Amino acid sequence: MKKVCVIGYPAKHSLSPVIHNYWLDKYDIQGKYEIREVEPNNFDNFFRNLYNEGYVGCNITVPFKEAAFKIAKELGSEIGTIENVAAAINTVLINDGKYIVKNSDAPGFNVNLQESVKEFDFKKGKVVVIGAGGAARGIITGIITKHVPEVILLNRTIENAEQIKKEIKNKISKDIKVISWDKLNESLAGANLLINTTSLGMIGQPPLEINLHHLPKDAIVTDIVYRPLVTPLLKAAQQRGNQIVDGLGMLLYQAVPGFNMWFSEELKSRGISSVEVTKELREKVESLL
Ligand code: ATR
Repeated sequence: MKKVCVIGYPAKHSLSPVIHNYWLDKYDIQGKYEIREVEPNNFDNFFRNLYNEGYVGCNITVPFKEAAFKIAKELGSEIGTIENVAAAINTVLINDGKYIVKNSDAPGFNVNLQESVKEFDFKKGKVVVIGAGGAARGIITGIITKHVPEVILLNRTIENAEQIKKEIKNKISKDIKVISWDKLNESLAGANLLINTTSLGMIGQPPLEINLHHLPKDAIVTDIVYRPLVTPLLKAAQQRGNQIVDGLGMLLYQAVPGFNMWFSEELKSRGISSVEVTKELREKVESLL
């Protein structure tokens, strides 16, 4: 039986097993998806020995996405554009001893947005991104691949935003604009999409201090935080009439490429090209938040 795991620290409360077990059950595939909580000083060793541990692949979560990227590079894995700019990976398949690696957060973000707002046009207007952590890197690269006309990046620590700007310029020759944190409210004028990639608004964290007055009413507001599902930012946006996209969808859609890679033969033999994020799956995960 094929075994896959999610590696993180902490990882006990990961929702990934619920998602992957849903698809294993749905398609009656013999497989196992486990949580492996690995101490940071053991990660290197564990990740390199994944196959000997009995796994055909894995997901990587906080705080190991960047470390996994570095090891995969060292092992000679082919690195795609999104992975290179994000400098982080979250999905791995071991094939003939080779690590096939992906960052599925970026496509997960894009597909969720497009599925949630069918008429959304990435090319229509500027995007304001709040936060310059690991999540921001993947998301910014992902939206650039969708040809957004302008990306405005704001972060409490401006140096972290400048660093992302520099890397994007060097790696894919694209310019993004960094604006200081105190200009957050004004930066929303004319935006087509607003994305919060920080942990602000999460249960136990302070809310994001923002005034949406300048944001066009037809802009989409999205948050990567999904606990709570409707963050204070999303609530404020909804109250003034903006359409919102919550963070749970991104979590669900980022899981799709991994399952498709690990269980490609099993899916093929059942005549299925890709697993789907169904309403039933979403409700199942939502009930556990
Ligand atoms: P992740 O990898 O999940 O994105 P991270 O790398 O820790 O997590 O990034 C967290 C983001 O939230 C950063 O942009 C961080 O801003 P700094 O670069 O200034 O640290 C932002 N963040 C966290 N707490 C914040 C706070 N209280 N106010 C403003 N921004 C905050």
